[in-house]
Amino acid sequence: MRKNIIFVFSGTGNSLWAAKKISEGLENCEIVSMGGDKKHTLTDEYDAIGFVYPTYYRGVPARVQNFVSQFDFRNNKNTYFFAVATCGSVATACNATTQLRNLLKRKEITLSYAEKLDMFSNYIIMYDMRDTVEEETRQSARDLEPIIDNIKKRTVDLTASRIKPFEQLMYKGFIHFSSHMDKHFNVSDACTHCGICQKACPVNNIDLGQDKKPYFKHHCEQCLACIQHCPARVINYKDKTQDKRRYTHPDIPWQELARLNGY
Ligand SMILES: Cc1cc2nc3c(=O)[nH]c(=O)nc-3n(C[C@H](O)[C@H](O)[C@H](O)COP(=O)(O)O)c2cc1C
Ligand code: SF4
Ligand code: SF4
Repeated sequence: MRKNIIFVFSGTGNSLWAAKKISEGLENCEIVSMGGDKKHTLTDEYDAIGFVYPTYYRGVPARVQNFVSQFDFRNNKNTYFFAVATCGSVATACNATTQLRNLLKRKEITLSYAEKLDMFSNYIIMYDMRDTVEEETRQSARDLEPIIDNIKKRTVDLTASRIKPFEQLMYKGFIHFSSHMDKHFNVSDACTHCGICQKACPVNNIDLGQDKKPYFKHHCEQCLACIQHCPARVINYKDKTQDKRRYTHPDIPWQELARLNGY
């Protein structure tokens, strides 16, 4: 039987949840993290290869860019490639799939199908977490159904929007500064030393020090998994997150992200 594979990047579980749902619709499909920094080669030929990731500042997370740029696809030139960018709002995810399409094109790969999926918006540094998790999660599940159907049918839709230049500029600013933004994270003494933040971090940017509190290694993606998953709510960004609700996808416990991250 031919094999399928989905590469995923996820901080608060939305993209992992979407990847799991898509994998259930495809037979014989594995899910692999894009969080590591190793160069990958697929020696086998796959029937379908997918990428599922969150939208950051209208575009693709830096780690996803690096992963795809370094990937060796030479044995999969005729494979069906698809992408799903999860986002807080499709209207503000404008460059998220076009950027990936362009990245793959440089590697002589055609992205056959790409969609954006509205999900709960997790950017706690910028705004409060709404109390509409249940409704929004149900709506995302409904919106994902036709996307899964299209992927199963191997729909080819090569219409791509142009990169929006102003948004691209914002994105470049974010990518430039994001790795060191963790210097603004603070951890209070109420830390219980559980280590969940370390395991939920998709890019191994957290170590536990001698005092068993997390410290950040400045290759952060700003996925906010650490802030959002900390059960004691003791990780904060400057003074911007202390009083805000936390969000993680209701069907994705931190243990699933830890497994994806190799723990
Ligand atoms: C740093 C950051 C930037 C974000 N920027 C955008 C954005 O430009 N447009 C958007 O629609 N959502 C944006 N979001 C929301 C996420 O893309 C969305 O919640 C996503 O589904 C989270 O996926 P995850 O749970 O797999 O990490 C942003 C989130 C973060 C953390
Ligand atoms: S998740 Fe929170 S409580 Fe647990 S080690 Fe990290 S900071 Fe401490
Ligand atoms: S340190 Fe926190 S915000 Fe940065 S990549 Fe790791 S989990 Fe995400």
